[in-house]
Amino acid sequence: MTSTETEEKRSSFPTVIVLAAIVIVVLLTCVPYLVTVALAEEAAERATTDASPIFGVTLPPGYKQWELIAPAEEAAPLDELRAVVGNQTAIDAYQAGKLPFPDGTILVKRAWKRKQSSDFASATVPGAATTVQVMVKDSQKYAATGGWGFGRFINGKPVDEAQHRTCFACHEARVKNRDYVFTRLAP
Ligand code: HEC
Repeated sequence: MTSTETEEKRSSFPTVIVLAAIVIVVLLTCVPYLVTVALAEEAAERATTDASPIFGVTLPPGYKQWELIAPAEEAAPLDELRAVVGNQTAIDAYQAGKLPFPDGTILVKRAWKRKQSSDFASATVPGAATTVQVMVKDSQKYAATGGWGFGRFINGKPVDEAQHRTCFACHEARVKNRDYVFTRLAP
């Protein structure tokens, strides 16, 4: 080895270490930051696109497993079968005959096109799912609408603000004396 070669090796080795250290520091600083920013953006997007206008109500997780309060049927032109279900707070309040419903109560109305069974002429069965409607009790947050927040969803997405302006008015006009809730526990 000539003396110049040895010198070059000596000077380049520490340079590589320093560069590697800089790269590692940059990665360690930036990656968690970028991940946080990406997650926050995603959460914000989900919250704004999947929450109902006016009320900010979202589809409650697990509602398809909730207990039945009562079924209902809607005549033409809607022609729907419906099932109103509730979380445990709702079921407990119904069973105790408690009014008004306590904060934390969530009622969900599921709906499907009703169709004639292909297996049995006189039977009616659920067809395609149409809407999912939600009422959430929070007496402080929703004080202006009887303590209820409303959400109406089609394919998991909330419908427009105009539709959400109709909810409370109809419930208030007809069932104010039952804490704005139509559905009674099916016997
Ligand atoms: C024109 C009247 C009317 C309007 C407007 C209305 N509802 Fe209802 N709602 C009803 C009736 C009647 C029931 C009883 C169940 C049934 O017949 O489907 C009901 C039931 C419900 C239930 C089950 C709890 C209960 O009160 O029985 C929820 C949840 C619900 N509606 C949410 C909504 C939401 C959200 C909106 C607005 C997007 C809305 N409703 C608008 C009439 C109305």
